[in-house]
Amino acid sequence: MIELRDLSPDDEAQLYAWRAESEVARWMSDADVSGREAHRAWFEQLCSDPDLKGWMITRGGRPSGLLTLTGLAGHHRRAAWNWFVGDADARGRGVGRAAQVLGLDRAFGELGLHKVYAEVMADNDAALKTMAGAGFRREGYLRGHVLSNGRPRDVVQLGILRDEWLEIAPAARQRLVEAGLIAR
Ligand SMILES: CC(C)(COP(=O)(O)OP(=O)(O)OC[C@H]1O[C@@H](n2cnc3c(N)ncnc32)[C@H](O)[C@@H]1OP(=O)(O)O)[C@@H](O)C(=O)NCCC(=O)NCCS
Repeated sequence: MIELRDLSPDDEAQLYAWRAESEVARWMSDADVSGREAHRAWFEQLCSDPDLKGWMITRGGRPSGLLTLTGLAGHHRRAAWNWFVGDADARGRGVGRAAQVLGLDRAFGELGLHKVYAEVMADNDAALKTMAGAGFRREGYLRGHVLSNGRPRDVVQLGILRDEWLEIAPAARQRLVEAGLIAR
């Protein structure tokens, strides 16, 4: 089963290892993880700042990835979505698909958001496909918008509104339950 759980102090080292891996780092544009101290500061902020929320994605109880929302304290009731499946063995097995449904349920449920949005590197086929599958719509295209290893990269802007999610959520949840990926 795929689940989301709150972060604990013990997760700091695992997250550092994942964020330093090239398969994760090459798609991330949100934060500088060039050193342990910068990572530690980021993690502490993630666990304490009310503007941010992070969950560990687990598969069969094992840590598999991270999902974060940022911008929660703003008055627009929207937040930016960032995520990765860090455990290489867990990728391509529906973990991302399930984590999205669980995360969007929390974003639009207990967190009461109106919109969730994301910036995804334009050549990140896996993320674009997975997020389109959860109902994220394309809202824009930004050329040379982020620097990755000093190289300008294009970015696709995606977004999903609460009403859109509420319409498709029951069927999305049902598909995951039938596939044995999430609990009923
Ligand atoms: C993007 C990511 C979160 C997707 O999670 P995942 O668990 O691997 O994805 P799933 O197994 O749930 O697959 C979801 C869909 O994407 C497709 N997919 C997976 N990997 C793919 C790839 N490399 N290229 C194209 N499509 C891919 C799957 O076929 C599936 O489609 P389907 O539902 O029609 O079968 C994960 O691959 C990842 O963390 N990648 C590295 C970091 C990253 O890119 N983070 C996102 C930044 S925005």
